[in-house]
Amino acid sequence: MYREHDLSYDFLGIHLENPFILSAGPPTDELDMAVDGLKAGWAGVVLKTTSVEENPVNLKYPMMSSFGTAAHKVWGLGNIDLISRYHIGEICARVSTLKHLFPSKMIAASIMGSRKEDWQSLVWQLRKAGIDLIECSFSCPQGSMGEAPGKMLAQSVEATEKVARWVKEAADDTPVLIKITPQVTDIVEVARALQRTGVDGVTASNSVPALIGVDVETMEPRPSVWGDGAYSGMTGMAIKPLTLRTIAEIARNVEITISGNGGAYSWSDAVELMAVGASNVQFCTMPMHYGFGVIRDLTSGMADYLERMGFRSPRDIVGKALSHIKAQEDLSAPVTYSDIDLDKCVGCGGCFRACRDGGHRAIVWDSVKRQPSVDTERCPGCGQCMQVCPVNAIRMKEEIDQHLHYFEFRGAR
Ligand SMILES: Cc1cc2nc3c(=O)[nH]c(=O)nc-3n(C[C@H](O)[C@H](O)[C@H](O)COP(=O)(O)O)c2cc1C
Repeated sequence: MYREHDLSYDFLGIHLENPFILSAGPPTDELDMAVDGLKAGWAGVVLKTTSVEENPVNLKYPMMSSFGTAAHKVWGLGNIDLISRYHIGEICARVSTLKHLFPSKMIAASIMGSRKEDWQSLVWQLRKAGIDLIECSFSCPQGSMGEAPGKMLAQSVEATEKVARWVKEAADDTPVLIKITPQVTDIVEVARALQRTGVDGVTASNSVPALIGVDVETMEPRPSVWGDGAYSGMTGMAIKPLTLRTIAEIARNVEITISGNGGAYSWSDAVELMAVGASNVQFCTMPMHYGFGVIRDLTSGMADYLERMGFRSPRDIVGKALSHIKAQEDLSAPVTYSDIDLDKCVGCGGCFRACRDGGHRAIVWDSVKRQPSVDTERCPGCGQCMQVCPVNAIRMKEEIDQHLHYFEFRGAR
């Protein structure tokens, strides 16, 4: 049964009925698809990145490749997609239609230009069409146009600051988000530069440049387009840890609004992104994988979570985990060792092998009983055995101020 709860709040002055937005990508690249997504219950859409009419878009197919396991085929998804083949005129028409059909949803569009005139003209046209928010793609893995050629725009602090100023100048009071890349040496420097420009926030972040794989029989990169391939933008579950770090690092250092983006597949992923500083969460690969209907699971899961935690609004989650993120040297150092529940143990020996060859040789193996036991003198509590145990029979026992605490495995989906 789906749980109902008022999940609405304001984001940059825009009403959101819940924190879940469809990100710029295939799910928002056709008008009928955007309509269906919004009808299904997503709070808003960011229409796939568009540009001025003169910019050609030469798409190559097949453009997707994934990697994973037999049980989980799409752990990470790679694409060599570009911006939308629909140019600004068509996108403005869609914005007007969507605003008319869904006056209380957030209708946003993503833009990419090269020259100042292009960026500003894109903004002016969208404003005229009634756009709620403009997102600027400074981080397409296939590279940017104009400033910082051969790179993603957001990989150059100077170019980022310059172009963001052009956009904000044209946008005036229409909210602007700059979509950045985690692939920089110092994300804080980029966020600080954006804060100086007066833009309203950042989208953190985007697909991560990657090479998804190589076919070892043919030596063709994946995806292979008639034998050759290009680097992909990687998305989906595999990138969530990068996204979390990017958001946290910005939130800990810069006062700027963040829209979370990258790797969210569930309501609890969204909570994680919000807990480290995102004000809402954009999804692309997950609805591409399971369809727009997953919004019901997201809203219901979030409603249940808020109730359980005593939070009144999704906004109450924002930044809640930040005070727990510290420098490694500032963490406490309790006495810790591994604690194995033999009632749960299936005798596979995985913990023993992992500890023998990758831990501290602190797990002793009884090969007759097929049972592990822990040499607490030797065990520093690194936690490797807990990660590999297939039945979660291992937890870390921590002694802090003569009190025992248990740290259990968290992280499997
Ligand atoms: C096939 C594909 C096309 C995409 N096209 C765009 C785009 O045009 N503009 C953009 O800003 N992001 C684009 N993205 C990136 C997504 O908006 C999003 O940032 C990324 O997929 C990470 O989120 P996810 O892990 O939830 O998918 C695209 C993603 C995919 C998979």
